[in-house]
Amino acid sequence: MPNVEFYRGCFNSYLEKKIRTKEPQNLYDPIVYIMDLGGKRLRPILTLISTDVFGGKYEDALDAALAIEIFHNFSLVHDDIMDAAPLRRGEITVHKKWDVNTGILSGDVMLINSYQYFESYPADLFKSLIEVFSKTAIEVCEGQQYDMDFEIRDDVTVPDYLKMITYKTAVLVAAAMKMGAIIARSSEELQSAIYDYGINLGIAFQLQDDYLDAFGDPENFGKQVGGDIIENKKTFLYIRAMELATEEEKRELKNLFSIKPQNPHEKIQTVKQIFIKSGAAELTRKEIEKYTKQAFQILESLDAPEKKKGILQRFGNKLMNREV
Ligand code: IPE
Ligand code: IPE
Ligand code: MG
Ligand code: MG
Ligand code: MG
Repeated sequence: MPNVEFYRGCFNSYLEKKIRTKEPQNLYDPIVYIMDLGGKRLRPILTLISTDVFGGKYEDALDAALAIEIFHNFSLVHDDIMDAAPLRRGEITVHKKWDVNTGILSGDVMLINSYQYFESYPADLFKSLIEVFSKTAIEVCEGQQYDMDFEIRDDVTVPDYLKMITYKTAVLVAAAMKMGAIIARSSEELQSAIYDYGINLGIAFQLQDDYLDAFGDPENFGKQVGGDIIENKKTFLYIRAMELATEEEKRELKNLFSIKPQNPHEKIQTVKQIFIKSGAAELTRKEIEKYTKQAFQILESLDAPEKKKGILQRFGNKLMNREV
């Protein structure tokens, strides 16, 4: 079975062929811009691998993979508006390079465009794929709403947080994998097992994203480090710190997460110190490991060739230790 780089290469050349600008340029240029900025291509790669793992032809999964990656990029363009983010993949975000209205409309086209890529599938597959996709897309919006609601709430619990990240992030990773199983025409049992694998991997992935948002290296993270702290995001780091820190630090943290200072530098530094000193940072690392291991357990009992499952295990381990 080919390695991850092989699938990334196949996917990127397919994307290059399909994503082209046209008139009106102010609608399509931002789409080409964001899609060409790259990113890890995690979700489409998982769709191709999953198709292969279940005995299908990865080439048959290219359209579904592209649909998922365009949807993902649409969600990033709108997410960056909602999070007031200046940087994405080391470059200026769409709504900053153009403007907010452009970000909204180009994002809308991307969402619709993502659906069009399923049109190439035979009727029965089309129906199954669209069913998963629409359910997932709505859940992502629900997750995004929780994420914003939590910014102004101070009673968010770990289960609340886990539900929020399951919706905004993990379901798309899970759907990407399930689609591979659908395209390979696997049993519903296998479809649901690989979906569960994706949920666990996706939760670990978002926990890591939140960790890197605070502790990533600004040189290679590609996003504004401290962005979640600026926006008062209720991450696992914050929730655990609010349980573990000293009474005085809790008061400080709570206060800092109720304001948005003009110059956030000091807020970011103080918050990061509390995250570390309270043990919340360490606990987050452990939680990432926990969900990655849970994913691997599901993988172990999955009825598929051991050799093929190996690539998913290596990929999962890489994600856990990623810096971008
Ligand atoms: C960013 O996703 C949004 C999250 C769900 C954390 P990725 O980290 O996969 O972004 P790219 O596509 O690699 O840039
Ligand atoms: C984004 O979560 C999830 C979606 C885009 C649906 P984040 O807001 O943490 O993603 P980044 O950190 O901006 O990539
Ligand atoms: Mg964001
Ligand atoms: Mg967000
Ligand atoms: Mg983030």
